[in-house]
Amino acid sequence: MSLHPSDFGPGFAWGVASSAYQTEGAYRTDGKGLSIWDSFCMQPGRIRDGSSGNTAADFYNRFIPDLILMQYLGIRNFRFSLSWPRILPGGTGARNEKGLDFYDRLIDFCLELGIEPWVTLYHWDLPQALEDRGGWANRDILNWFSEYVETCVLRYGDRVRHWMVLNEPMVFTGAGYFLGIHAPGRKSLSAFLAAAHHAVLCQALGGRIIRSLNGRCRAGTTFSASHIEPSGDTRPAREAASRVDALTNRMFLEPLLGLGYPVGELKVLQGIGQWHRDGDDALMAFDMDFIGVQNYTREVVRYSPLIPYLNARVVPAGRRGVPQTAMGWEVYPESIYAILKKYSAYPGMPELVVTENGAAFPDTVCDGVVHDPERIGYLSAYLEQVRKARREGVRVEGYFLWTFTDNFEWAEGLSRRFGIVYTDFRTQKRLVKSSGYWLQQFLREAAATEKSFLRSSDF
Ligand code: GCO
Repeated sequence: MSLHPSDFGPGFAWGVASSAYQTEGAYRTDGKGLSIWDSFCMQPGRIRDGSSGNTAADFYNRFIPDLILMQYLGIRNFRFSLSWPRILPGGTGARNEKGLDFYDRLIDFCLELGIEPWVTLYHWDLPQALEDRGGWANRDILNWFSEYVETCVLRYGDRVRHWMVLNEPMVFTGAGYFLGIHAPGRKSLSAFLAAAHHAVLCQALGGRIIRSLNGRCRAGTTFSASHIEPSGDTRPAREAASRVDALTNRMFLEPLLGLGYPVGELKVLQGIGQWHRDGDDALMAFDMDFIGVQNYTREVVRYSPLIPYLNARVVPAGRRGVPQTAMGWEVYPESIYAILKKYSAYPGMPELVVTENGAAFPDTVCDGVVHDPERIGYLSAYLEQVRKARREGVRVEGYFLWTFTDNFEWAEGLSRRFGIVYTDFRTQKRLVKSSGYWLQQFLREAAATEKSFLRSSDF
């Protein structure tokens, strides 16, 4: 069935998403402090292809042509993040006027082009100075984070309406503090539990600060979410799947909704008790204006006594012989539908926005073009599932494609390309992929839908 933007309604927000560390580069320019990702990339062996985000897609210096290209492709909403160490180089205290000014210029230029800025406050680049004091595992992060959020909302709240407090807390605490495969590279269960609890408190705190400082702003936050299935219809597999589901999809969302941690399914979360203070239950809850859902794939899970705490293991897509992306993630469009349904079933769930969805494929330039039909296939199939959820009454009000230009894909480095615009990292030249033109064509129809809606609502 062919896809048409009018199926999603006239007010639906179509956009692309990115983050500061993955695109900006300029890691030491104009007074910016170092982040944990700057330090992590300096450690040999941390990044698969030995690259770093030092230059990334050079967005700091190229945001003007990039935004012009974005506008040319018809993209009207842009989700990006602010770099905390660019704004507060030491994490707290002295502000960096040049860093603040960069985001003024970026936001103003978006608005000038008719592109709505959607701002993520924290997309993983903690100031190294704060990690040196314990980072997310130190409860003082509540004060540091408040200062940072206030600084940003006071400065940009007059022009930025949509705010997201955290990007995927499960990933930055789990991969960063427990598995050690992301910055800051720590491997400790107690650091992970502490970091997770503080992130849960900060996501609600951030929402409260945004709302109290500017009633016009809309507060949201984002979660990574994957549909989880047992590898077979056995009780151990089903229980393993429910533990992984609690960890992947529920642990950060449910406290925000006032439901506390899913300790029943995931006993290891009892360890959070050690970091939990009186009154925290109330502080963890906040009624966001919207919830960002970020989905790429599903996970199939089997029971495994060898994996500590979880007794579960993910069966990789490669071993299941299913279609996969360059990340080794299964292409499974029904996952986004299942997640949207699951989230919307929570009582009191606010509006949902797909704040990330996209795919990496091994794109190459051939005769001056990048032909990426696999990405177009992936995006259309996932969008059809978003449409299906919407038709069944799920309140999903936007879709942000990850990502605009190819950029720095964390521990995978520069070699995993998610963009609809190809980046030649040697010259920083941009080349619109066929998926970019496909999106342009699709969004033209969205603009037409919006115009006819405006006309008909004149009456
Ligand atoms: C995340 C982040 C993005 C990633 C994207 C692809 O989900 O990890 O929000 O920064 O680049 O998801 O992995």
